Amino acid sequence: MDAPITTLRFRLRDETLQAHQDAEAALDLDRRLASLGAYTALLRALYRAHRPIEARLAAFEWAGSGIAFAERRKLAWLEADLAALRALPVPADAAGAPRVAADGGALVPADEDAAAPPGDEDGPPPSPGEAFGMLYVLEGSTLGGRIIGREVAARLGLDADRGGRFFHGYGARTGAMWQGFTAALDRLGPTGPDAEAAVAAARRTFETVRRCVLQAEVPPVADGSPRADAGRAATADPSEATSPPRP
Ligand code: HEM
Repeated sequence: MDAPITTLRFRLRDETLQAHQDAEAALDLDRRLASLGAYTALLRALYRAHRPIEARLAAFEWAGSGIAFAERRKLAWLEADLAALRALPVPADAAGAPRVAADGGALVPADEDAAAPPGDEDGPPPSPGEAFGMLYVLEGSTLGGRIIGREVAARLGLDADRGGRFFHGYGARTGAMWQGFTAALDRLGPTGPDAEAAVAAARRTFETVRRCVLQAEVPPVADGSPRADAGRAATADPSEATSPPRP
């Protein structure tokens, strides 16, 4: 017999287990942390995924929900990372277009809008179940983000101030932020229409992230060393930014 469903958080965890594994497989960290170019392409893919989802979440009326949504936005972290990486040498994508604007212009060129997940940005504001289901995925990703952040630092020499802000996430506050989120989430209850909507929305959100990541080209490693010199400012001479790992 199936174990009784205790809370919506545990229901979401159980019913999106496969979706999490699929997203994790799509991230394919070994490949995407193999060079600054591959890492930048990953951040751009995550930017494409987060932008419409955050836009939808921002349309929800969070007042009284127990969530201060402004504290949980992550798009600015991705923007900060892409801005920091802009000065570093990033291989062109398959079409020869620069993966990151070199001139301080739009971080996401117009042609990439076409790759944005359809339907996620438009439509009426999400219902409570939908909003919490979407936010569950983005908030949960900060848990795995702790592991990824450490890898980003170790393999690429980037930290929260320079290209590693997104995966740094809430840092030391991660546990407390997750507790705060799940407490608010669980008020919806584990069964009923809100819970059904949350599970469906969480699955869709995982799929959006997975699809955006899979669409991202992984540029070939241009030289033997993936690391930026962690001690150098982001505006350092790009020709020097692939210096060998420090001892
Ligand atoms: C290589 C990629 C990833 C790794 C290694 C990873 C790893 C993890 C780990 C270790 C946890 C459990 C943390 C804990 O209980 O303290 C976790 C939870 C979670 N992750 Fe990931 N993750 C990855 C990618 C993602 C992605 C891309 C998303 C979303 C788009 C995501 C969403 C979640 C969610 C929602 C949870 C919470 C599950 C729960 O309710 O307990 N993860 N992840």
